Amino acid sequence: MTLADDDVRVHLAPRKIAPGTHLIQDVQHALGQPLSVYLNSMVIQGAEPIIVDTGSARNREAWLQDVFGLVEPQDVRWVFLTHDDSDHTGNLAQVMDACPNATLVCSWTLVERFANAYDFDLNRCRWVNDGESFDAGDRTLVAVRPPVYDSPATRGLFDTSTGVYWAADAFASPVPGGPGASPVGDVADLDPEAWWGGMVMFGLHALSPWLSMVQKKKYARCVRQVRAHGMTTIASGHSAVISGASVAQAFDMLGNLAGAEPPPCPDQAVLEMMLRAMGGE
Ligand SMILES: [Fe+2]
Ligand SMILES: [Fe+2]
Repeated sequence: MTLADDDVRVHLAPRKIAPGTHLIQDVQHALGQPLSVYLNSMVIQGAEPIIVDTGSARNREAWLQDVFGLVEPQDVRWVFLTHDDSDHTGNLAQVMDACPNATLVCSWTLVERFANAYDFDLNRCRWVNDGESFDAGDRTLVAVRPPVYDSPATRGLFDTSTGVYWAADAFASPVPGGPGASPVGDVADLDPEAWWGGMVMFGLHALSPWLSMVQKKKYARCVRQVRAHGMTTIASGHSAVISGASVAQAFDMLGNLAGAEPPPCPDQAVLEMMLRAMGGE
């Protein structure tokens, strides 16, 4: 039995979250729960259009249709890659081939880690480290590493013109919505306890298990520094949209992850229980 056997995929159309800023949405159903996990990426239209992360290979056909329904391939000027995980790099080669005028905004770390899987044309790369920015014609974009991440290459992207922060994997949390159902789209509609529980589960078991080892004061300073950019909307690869009053709440929760006690990580007994529930024995 594979996960795909149990999957009823839902296609969610691109969602506008700010002027010219669109979420490219994909969902994966959480293992053994009536929950879903977003696998989002983003398109910023503007004087110099930007694709932010490139989705997963499994969703390639829909992803390419969604993205190029918003921007013509030859108009894409920038492709910003947050890090080297497969759910963010799944259509990188297809995008760079389709978009001859695009520069790939990445870093030494990303190239070093991902050159085994993608043949980087260094002439088309621009390396941007944490805290550095680049100009995209009508806006300045700042690379801001979120406090929580699963690759040392990770940098989020803050659009100073709209206040939207693309947080890479940070703020990841599952949302209600099982196979065939549309998942919750805004964190304001989540049960606060379920939101916190999901963020702890994902934050400590799927992203940054080292959070249990960090000095809380230093970590809190890092969270404050990221927050100080003044983002008004947070889009994440793996969260419902965070906006309005939820932004402050989300940063408070992110800050509380250091020292939080995660539930037990699912083990072989859980796998066997899931297989029985799925009728896979
Ligand atoms: Fe990741
Ligand atoms: Fe991810």
